[in-house]
Amino acid sequence: MSTYLVFGATGSVGRRVAERLAWSGAAVRATSRNPEAAKLPQGVEVIPADLEAPGALDDIDAAFLMWPFHSAEPGRPIVDALKRRVRHVVFMTGGGALPGLAPEEQPSPAARWHATVEHLIERSGMAWTVLSPSTFMTNTLWWSDQIKAGDSVRGAFGSLWMTPIHEDDIAAVAVHALTEPGHEGHRYTLTGPEVLTQAEQVRLIGEAIGRPLRWQELTLEQERARLLADPDFPGGFVDELLDGYTKMAAAPRPQVTSTVRDITGAPVTTLSAWAAEHAADFGGEQR
Ligand SMILES: NC(=O)c1ccc[n+]([C@@H]2O[C@H](COP(=O)([O-])OP(=O)(O)OC[C@H]3O[C@@H](n4cnc5c(N)ncnc54)[C@H](OP(=O)(O)O)[C@@H]3O)[C@@H](O)[C@H]2O)c1
Repeated sequence: MSTYLVFGATGSVGRRVAERLAWSGAAVRATSRNPEAAKLPQGVEVIPADLEAPGALDDIDAAFLMWPFHSAEPGRPIVDALKRRVRHVVFMTGGGALPGLAPEEQPSPAARWHATVEHLIERSGMAWTVLSPSTFMTNTLWWSDQIKAGDSVRGAFGSLWMTPIHEDDIAAVAVHALTEPGHEGHRYTLTGPEVLTQAEQVRLIGEAIGRPLRWQELTLEQERARLLADPDFPGGFVDELLDGYTKMAAAPRPQVTSTVRDITGAPVTTLSAWAAEHAADFGGEQR
């Protein structure tokens, strides 16, 4: 039986990867900085998030790696540890890292550090697969307090186009890449099934919870002040997020890709279906 490592297994995508692997009957070793609180399925071996620790990578066939760090600095030791023991790594990139550009040519600090890790992995000698997902549907949970408290969501960039993706669709692709041959050396661009503005996303969440919701546009400065006052958004992340949105707004309208469906063979989850699953998070009734 193959054994898989899931790094970041309590995160929005990593948890789904660990669950899908465990439910398929595979042996799973999962990392968390707080193993006792990880709440992963029975049978999953939870270890501290230190891949250099003795035994951490023993008998691992393939690893899912995501990047929780705000620099590329841990990249070298983590990739070195993996390449000594693991045949194939599936790396979920992010930060808007663009394919075909060297790290120093990337458009933002987050894109640079994710691209640096991609480069380290691609040059490591391990087999690799890179997953480059679009905006996660889980980001709409940032609006949950506003939606619980009223009928509008205040924010900037209401007309910003996105292709939001369900975290479980990313995980489904990751599991195919980890467990099947044929995905080595591929960089997959993963999107949800629809192009939606932020204002449309708010309207669809309203439909899912049975309450009309509307977008209330703020200026960029009002939005910056609002986010900086929110303890869930550290200052560095506010700038990263708003700079990212400013660049997305200036870029061509994003396109939906068929990659999730091509790889999983299953329909790609809509935001309406995701919002129905998460209705309770917005103060609605779970359907
Ligand atoms: N949100 C988006 O729209 C979006 C879009 C594309 C790409 N991405 C990329 O997705 C990644 C984030 O994934 P996610 O949202 O699934 O993560 P997440 O939900 O924020 O979870 C982070 C995971 O990393 C672990 N972790 C946090 N700090 C750690 C550290 N210092 N050392 C080791 N483990 C640590 C956490 O585990 P413990 O707390 O249990 O240790 C947790 O399992 C980023 O690279 C981001 O750029 C995000």
